[in-house]
Amino acid sequence: MPTFDAGGIDRWDQDVAALAGSLVHEVKNPLSTLNISAQLLLEEAGEPTTPREQRTVRRLQVMREEIARIEQIVSSFLQYVRLQSVEGRPLDLNALLSRLLSDNAERHERRKLRVHFQAEEELPPVAADEVLLRQAFLNLLQNAEQAMPEGGELIVRTLQREREAGPELQVEVIDTGVGIPAEQLEKVFRPYFSSKREGTGLGLPTVLRIVKLHGGNVRVESEAGQGSRFIVTLPPFPAGSDSSGSGAK
Ligand SMILES: Nc1ncnc2c1ncn2[C@@H]1O[C@H](COP(=O)(O)OP(=O)(O)O)[C@@H](O)[C@H]1O
Ligand SMILES: [Mg+2]
Repeated sequence: MPTFDAGGIDRWDQDVAALAGSLVHEVKNPLSTLNISAQLLLEEAGEPTTPREQRTVRRLQVMREEIARIEQIVSSFLQYVRLQSVEGRPLDLNALLSRLLSDNAERHERRKLRVHFQAEEELPPVAADEVLLRQAFLNLLQNAEQAMPEGGELIVRTLQREREAGPELQVEVIDTGVGIPAEQLEKVFRPYFSSKREGTGLGLPTVLRIVKLHGGNVRVESEAGQGSRFIVTLPPFPAGSDSSGSGAK
């Protein structure tokens, strides 16, 4: 008789990711309907004159803001659970980081951040998924920026280090912001830990997940009131390998 031993399959991670993905899509459709309805009601309300109309408009605006917030929460959740594997291609970290900084330069200037990029010359390539790695560094830059509401120094450094296990690439994102209290250091990489009113608490877990999928690691050093340093290490692209994706898993 045909039999099937279900004990032999272990795809919990993929199943949860797939379930989460369909949940997110199911939630997104009614959300966008709500958003459009609120928008139309706002347009119909026009310029409020009576206090009652002003209250109505204000409430509709709150609804739209909260809808946007739910959309942000479900999107970052989906992005996090979807991270299952990466296909590594050789990538120039200095080029990636310098593009990322110049894409954000205008906002950095507006927010009074003095940005320094200290790029090690002759940095070997990493085996990376560029889109994911860009996202990881963007999350670190956003945190640094949010830690310096009054402005400050933002330093991004790349370097190559020799380790027993072989060479290693390192990227540091350093800020002179609020810092992290010692008792919170071990919590910041956990999903949904956030000290911000509008935080998702998924920025650093996403960073860690992406970097680990690249075979690397993330460390943090911080002093409350002084600033923080996030250190990302990544293995170099395997010597003698071609660019056909040597799958860093
Ligand atoms: N550069 C930083 N300076 C100070 N605190 C930080 C920094 N980066 C992260 N944190 C702390 O770690 C928490 C988690 O960060 P993250 O996962 O990106 O979530 P979020 O930014 O949405 O709060 C932040 O709320 C903050 O308390
Ligand atoms: Mg964040």
